[in-house]
Amino acid sequence: MTVDMSTRYLGFELKSPVLPSASPLTGDIDHILALVEAGAPAIVLPSLFEEQIEHDAMAVHFGLELGADGFGEAPGGYLPSLDSYNTGPEDYLELMRRARAEAGVPVIASLNGVSSGGWTLYARVLEDNGVDALELNIYKVAADVEMSSADVELSYLHLVETVRDAVELPLAVKVGPYFSSMASMARRLGEAGADGLVLFNRFYQPDIDLETLGVAPNLRLSTSDELRLVLRWMAILHGRIEPDLAASTGVHEWDDAAKAILAGATVVMMASGLLKHGPHRLSEVQKGLESWLTDNDYASVAQARGSLSQSSVPDPSAFERSNYMKTLTSYAPSW
Ligand SMILES: Cc1cc2nc3c(=O)[nH]c(=O)nc-3n(C[C@H](O)[C@H](O)[C@H](O)COP(=O)(O)O)c2cc1C
Repeated sequence: MTVDMSTRYLGFELKSPVLPSASPLTGDIDHILALVEAGAPAIVLPSLFEEQIEHDAMAVHFGLELGADGFGEAPGGYLPSLDSYNTGPEDYLELMRRARAEAGVPVIASLNGVSSGGWTLYARVLEDNGVDALELNIYKVAADVEMSSADVELSYLHLVETVRDAVELPLAVKVGPYFSSMASMARRLGEAGADGLVLFNRFYQPDIDLETLGVAPNLRLSTSDELRLVLRWMAILHGRIEPDLAASTGVHEWDDAAKAILAGATVVMMASGLLKHGPHRLSEVQKGLESWLTDNDYASVAQARGSLSQSSVPDPSAFERSNYMKTLTSYAPSW
C-alpha cells in the first residue's frame, strides 16, 4: 500500500509535508534546484529584512512611503552587514523570479521585520512580481521596559493586519514561543490574517567573549532536542485554531518529522538539518517518514496528523500540569 503523502499548506496542494525553511540554502538558485530535486514540495526563501528595504534606494524607486516607524534612536546604526547573505530588494526579486521560473514548486518569500512602517508595502511588490505566498517573520526581542506584554502583542497583530491589507497572497506568520499566552496569541494571529503559523522562530543567544570582552555572535545550529517545545504547541493548537501549522526548529531526522505530524503539524520545515548534511537530507527525511507511516498502517499523512494532539483534551493546561507533576515525581537519579 502506498501512503498518500500529500498535504495542503497555505492553500497549495503539496506532494509531501517536508519543506526547506528560510536559510542560506534557499538563497541561491543552484541550492533551490537541488532541494527540489531532493523532493522539496515548496521553497521558503531567506528573509528580506525590514532594515534592508528601508535602506535600499530601490524602495524609493518603488514609491514606497518610507520610514513611518523609523529606527528609534539608532537610525541605521545597528544594522549588521547583510552583504554576504542576501544583498537587498533588487537581488531578492531576481532570486524569487528565477526560483518561480525554474523550480516548478510554490515559492514563498519571507519578509522579516517588527514595525508596521512603509516597508510592509514591499509585500505588494513581491505579489506584483508573481510570488506564490508570503511568510512574515516577526523577530523581536521585547527589551523596552516601558512596553507591556499587551503592547507587544498588539504590535505583532497590527503588523500582520498591515501586511494582510497590503496583499491577497496566502500569508504565513513566523513567531517565537515567548508569549505569556501563546495559545491566545496564535488564535489572534489567525484572526489578524495569518493563513499559517510557523512555530517557531529560533532566537539566537549571544555569548560573551572573555578574551575580547565583547559580545560574540553565536549561531549554533539546532538539535532534535529542540523539537519538544514545537511538539508541545503543535499538540495544543491542533484543531483549536484556524491557521495551518508549520513545525520549525529541531526537525533533523524522519522521526522528528513523524512526531511533529502526529502532534498536529500541517508541514515540517528544516534548516539546520539541511545546512549540516546538504539538500539530500530532505529526501532521507521524506522517505523515512513514508516508511514509518507505511509500517504503522497509516493510509495518509492526513490520517496521522494530530492523532497524538490534545484536540480531544478539554483542558490542555490541566493536562500539561499533570504531566509536569508526573515527570518531576517519577524522576529517579541514576547514581
Ligand atoms: C544560518 C541561518 C539563517 C537563517 N535565516 C533565516 C531567514 O532569513 N529568515 C527566517 O525566517 N529564518 C531564518 N533562519 C531560521 C530557520 O528558517 C529556522 O526557523 C530555524 O533555524 C529553526 O529550524 P531548524 O531547527 O531546522 O534550524 C535561519 C537559520 C539559520 C541557521
